Amino acid sequence: MSEPLLEISGLHTSFDTYDGKVGAVDGVELTVEAGKTLCVVGESGCGKSVTARSILRLVEKPGSIDSGTVTWHGGEEPFDVLSLDDKDPRLQKLRGDDIGMIFQEPAASLLPLRSIGAQLIEALRIHTGMDKKAARARAVELLGLVGIPDAERRVDAYPFQLSGGMCQRAMIAIALCAEPALLIADEPTTALDVTTQARILDLIRDLQARNHMAVMFITHDLGVVAEMADEVAVMYLGRVVERASVEEVFADPKHPYTKALLRSVPVLGRDRGRDLPTIPGTVPNPLHRPKGCSFHPRCTEAIAGRCDLDEPPEVVFDGGRTAQCVLYDDQSEGDRA
Ligand SMILES: Nc1ncnc2c1ncn2[C@@H]1O[C@H](COP(=O)(O)OP(=O)(O)OP(=O)(O)O)[C@@H](O)[C@H]1O
Ligand SMILES: [Mg+2]
Repeated sequence: MSEPLLEISGLHTSFDTYDGKVGAVDGVELTVEAGKTLCVVGESGCGKSVTARSILRLVEKPGSIDSGTVTWHGGEEPFDVLSLDDKDPRLQKLRGDDIGMIFQEPAASLLPLRSIGAQLIEALRIHTGMDKKAARARAVELLGLVGIPDAERRVDAYPFQLSGGMCQRAMIAIALCAEPALLIADEPTTALDVTTQARILDLIRDLQARNHMAVMFITHDLGVVAEMADEVAVMYLGRVVERASVEEVFADPKHPYTKALLRSVPVLGRDRGRDLPTIPGTVPNPLHRPKGCSFHPRCTEAIAGRCDLDEPPEVVFDGGRTAQCVLYDDQSEGDRA
């Protein structure tokens, strides 16, 4: 039985720039189920981070959330995060207590003039009510769990005394310390070596098993997706173009963009010495969104006269997976009938 924890619907977030309004997130629909992992994939600039930041209303100027709803089901009553008053205590509780966020830029989210221990201890005291001594012991334990060697000593280090990878691990510890109902992890392991990455993925899975934590995991790494995901959302130019279970995505990708992403991943034993296919072209600037399907200029299966003119339909397949693509239009007709 699926039990939604977070539902995003019709989310539009844009940035006002000198060149015009950049529609970074353009009608995103996503659901994170309680206790499950949703992986969000897509090339650089597809709007993954802006979607994540919009959930907690952490989009800074010149950005603004223009429309949509973000429904949180983790409280007594479901509510729309986007329509809460700035001072609503539910918003404060969401940020850090209910939802832990690992930002893509670790340096930007640690305070430079406070030791990582002080930041972690404060977060632990606020979110768990521990006393100072217990919080310090837990801080050292958490830093050890995320793979910071000699945590007993490093707990008193300032961010500038640590490497980028260590700052990233400290931030992961802060995001996890309140044992949130939902962890949003934006490329949490990109700057880390594979051993540390494996350790962090284990830690996330362990918390998930113990606390029924849900995870929204943003990554470029399809290996991580295969290992972590229950559900996958593929984003292209501010929209979710395919949503399906991890098994469905790998065994039977529907959207040509998903197929292209999968083709660009090496297969052990098969691809040695071969050039991997890359997706031709680049993600267009959202200021100049192509007419019709945004992916059509790069799509090997595009149909002239349709994909370059009409918005693709959202096709719902048996079992509930979706793809925004004209290739399956007849199936959605069948479903609707
Ligand atoms: N502060 C800003 N001002 C103007 N445009 C912005 C700003 N922040 C993001 N954007 C635009 O929003 C779009 C989506 O950006 P976002 O950071 O969400 O991409 P992403 O999918 O997370 O990419 P990556 O994989 O590189 O992290 C991009 O076109 C980006 O240029
Ligand atoms: Mg990003």
